Amino acid sequence: MTNNVNRQFLIAAHPKGMLKASDFQYHETEIPAPGEGEVLVRVLMVAVEPALRGIMVEDPNNPAGLKPGDVMSAIAAGEVVRSNNPAVAEGDRVQGLFGFSDYAVTHPEAFLFSKIPDGVPLEASLYVFDTSGLTAYLGMMEIGQPLAGEHVLVSAAAGAVGSLAVQMAKISGAKVVGIAGTDEKCQWLTDKLGLDGAINYRSEDVGSRIETLLPGGIDIYFDNVGGEILDAALGTLRMGSRVILCGRISEYANTGEPFEPTNAARLINNSLRMERLVLFNHTDRFDDWRTVMADWISEGRLQYTIDMLDGFENLPRGLIRLFTGENKGKQLIRIA
Ligand SMILES: NC(=O)c1ccc[n+]([C@@H]2O[C@H](COP(=O)([O-])OP(=O)(O)OC[C@H]3O[C@@H](n4cnc5c(N)ncnc54)[C@H](OP(=O)(O)O)[C@@H]3O)[C@@H](O)[C@H]2O)c1
Repeated sequence: MTNNVNRQFLIAAHPKGMLKASDFQYHETEIPAPGEGEVLVRVLMVAVEPALRGIMVEDPNNPAGLKPGDVMSAIAAGEVVRSNNPAVAEGDRVQGLFGFSDYAVTHPEAFLFSKIPDGVPLEASLYVFDTSGLTAYLGMMEIGQPLAGEHVLVSAAAGAVGSLAVQMAKISGAKVVGIAGTDEKCQWLTDKLGLDGAINYRSEDVGSRIETLLPGGIDIYFDNVGGEILDAALGTLRMGSRVILCGRISEYANTGEPFEPTNAARLINNSLRMERLVLFNHTDRFDDWRTVMADWISEGRLQYTIDMLDGFENLPRGLIRLFTGENKGKQLIRIA
């Protein structure tokens, strides 16, 4: 610690519509001192995900709701620089809910706190072995359960969860098509991740492109976006299909009426299962899933792509990029 300044980003305002830089406020305070049983962590890298907007909004039903003046929350990785707890040593690499902050005081029993195993890069720990990777695994492998030759469709396929989910479906032998927002992402999905096709939802008609690329309809739809893309996918479900409701990013900033799908009849007639993905109902399975994914990575069958921004000042921008579609793979921000 060369000086006693702890940089932070606070919530400046509850977001309304699209998240913007002015929803955050830069702040400096003193580096906190850990109390009895606590540890002080110097944060090195911060992970962002769309759900962070959800904890910023003003909503009485939002139990984790942050209010203006609170430090922005996020999962981050860092190094213990002072420890008053025998469970954690100075120099240990750890991750937890450290937020948009250079330093955080925490406790080894805190929610989501864990030591990062030796040999695991911070990037992998914050991505493939944390919520994004586990979400992809739960959705695709446990709920979807793709079979060889089945037709799988994934939206936000070039993002953190989607780019892992599509590869898991390919590992299972399925025919896989991804949906993304630029031609460059679509090309990356087919050329680098080996997908059988990709659809640019901004320039193409999603429903007719699904029919062309996956003739006869789809067996699994892994939904990261909701809205009109979900509706187009529902319209192509075939008998015995599974729909995984992972997220609704196209609707998060909607201040009007919620989107109502028009193709629900197809879902009722053809679908075996439509399930909302609730990751923390499955904590007892996380280590098993991490082991499978680690094997796939070491065998070269699963690649994980990091979109790294450098600089503390880029923390709000990193989160906003998820909503503008600028990220490819997992958005992380290296702050030290
Ligand atoms: N249920 C759970 O436990 C759980 C856990 C993690 C994530 N999720 C959800 O999974 C989804 C993906 O999360 P992630 O962390 O992997 O984020 P991400 O895919 O890395 O980033 C979000 C992506 O969504 C796309 N997008 C943004 N606005 C869109 C819109 N209006 N319409 C269509 N696509 C849009 C953008 O890509 P394009 O360029 O393709 O537009 C962007 O890159 C989110 O909905 C998130 O809330 C759920």
